Amino acid sequence: MEHQTLDAFPDNFLWGSASAAYQVEGAAKEDGKGESVWDRFVQIPGKTFKGTTGDVAVDHYHRYKEDVALMAEQGLKAYRFSVAWSRIIPDGDGEVNEKGLEFYDKLIDELLAHGIEPVLTLYHWDIPQALQDKYGGWESRQVIEDFTRYADILFQRYNNKVKYWVSLNEQNIFIMLGYRMAAHPPNVVDEKRMYQANHIANLANASVIRRFRELEINGKIGPSFAYGPTYALDSHPLNQLAAENNEAFSAHWWMDVYVFGEYPKTVWKYLEKKGLVPAIEEGDMDLLKSAKPDFMGLNYYQTATVEHNPLDGVSAGKMNTSGKKGSSEASGLPGVFKSADNPYVEQTDWDWDIDPVGLRIALRRIDSRYNLPILITENGLGAYDDLEEDGSIHDDYRIDFLRKHVQTIQEAITDGVNVLGYCTWSYTDLLSWLNGYQKRYGFVYVDREELDEKELKRYKKDSYFWYKKVIETNGKEL
Ligand code: BG6
Repeated sequence: MEHQTLDAFPDNFLWGSASAAYQVEGAAKEDGKGESVWDRFVQIPGKTFKGTTGDVAVDHYHRYKEDVALMAEQGLKAYRFSVAWSRIIPDGDGEVNEKGLEFYDKLIDELLAHGIEPVLTLYHWDIPQALQDKYGGWESRQVIEDFTRYADILFQRYNNKVKYWVSLNEQNIFIMLGYRMAAHPPNVVDEKRMYQANHIANLANASVIRRFRELEINGKIGPSFAYGPTYALDSHPLNQLAAENNEAFSAHWWMDVYVFGEYPKTVWKYLEKKGLVPAIEEGDMDLLKSAKPDFMGLNYYQTATVEHNPLDGVSAGKMNTSGKKGSSEASGLPGVFKSADNPYVEQTDWDWDIDPVGLRIALRRIDSRYNLPILITENGLGAYDDLEEDGSIHDDYRIDFLRKHVQTIQEAITDGVNVLGYCTWSYTDLLSWLNGYQKRYGFVYVDREELDEKELKRYKKDSYFWYKKVIETNGKEL
């Protein structure tokens, strides 16, 4: 529907931006930090673009004050960041590292001093390597207890300071890339292990939410899920069915568990026939049902378009991690769906579909299926940026991308969806896990290249000033 007039953004709308520990902090070995699986994984030749690592990243660990000052000047209302588990408990389950906690004490206090709401992500993909070595990380039920203990430490320490908590970031991505494609740690290709690790991650997610309730933490908690609505290539019934399949396999398979504590039937049945269902123990389903989140965190980048895939059709394709347009290949699940090109949308240099309307559809689908408030925890454009001689960066393509997405959020709000806030990805430029430093997302340009850290100087992009105005006018001026 087209609205004659749009509802205003709510007064307390959280205009924010986001990052993750491994992608910004650096200081990989400082102040007692333990090794995480990412510290180890990036050492494997050929896994990341030009062998890039987060050893130094954009040095946020040492420059957090400068970064928060930039946020304050821009008027940011919320900043989403993640805590590195291996800073807090270096070996994952042993002694607590007070120095690691002190870094987050300082960061949170600095944000609060400037009136910026901290949004704390407990887990953004960096489980301590020691737990991977000891019991296989997410594949062992022991992780449920260890992750809950780690979360508990943060809940108690930051209760009344942090109001918004994200449990797991993009469980679908770290599980699928980690266990189906060997593109993330633990570098495995094994579907049986993937579904088992995923079930355990679900239990860990539910366990921290239950702990949050037991402690009566003054705030809200939910997972951040990577969701992009699926479109059928056309109205051919088999392509429509493929789209339904993709929604079930790529979205309901996770979000139904978070909200209803149930696995969707069609996917379960399919996996059962293949001998891939995870082992469910007594009490598992009760735990899952007992831990409904307060909100759904939505990381939205793009929609997916799919078509029918025969039983002998394509499976895992190739991702574009080089930034050479058109270098990705179709992927799918034989007999279920395969990706197709959407002729109606443009793509980024990394072949991601640019589709602002998809965000409105995402918000509406989540709202109607789960009836929860939604916090947009990531949305943004990865692009090449040029630093001009005078220190400016004219990223009008990013402004255009963000403006159109903000417009569709306002339309979704007018449709009746309860959207709590909007965190762009990302605040400063940062390390893109597999794509190096050349794929930039920030409002703040950081002058470094893949293999040359330079001085890591910060520069405001044109989008920085655009977002400042958006915040000042509470979304009236886009
Ligand atoms: C999300 C992650 O998947 O997308 C971020 O939560 C990530 O950590 C972002 O950086 C963009 O993806 P990419 O691959 O372009 O860095």
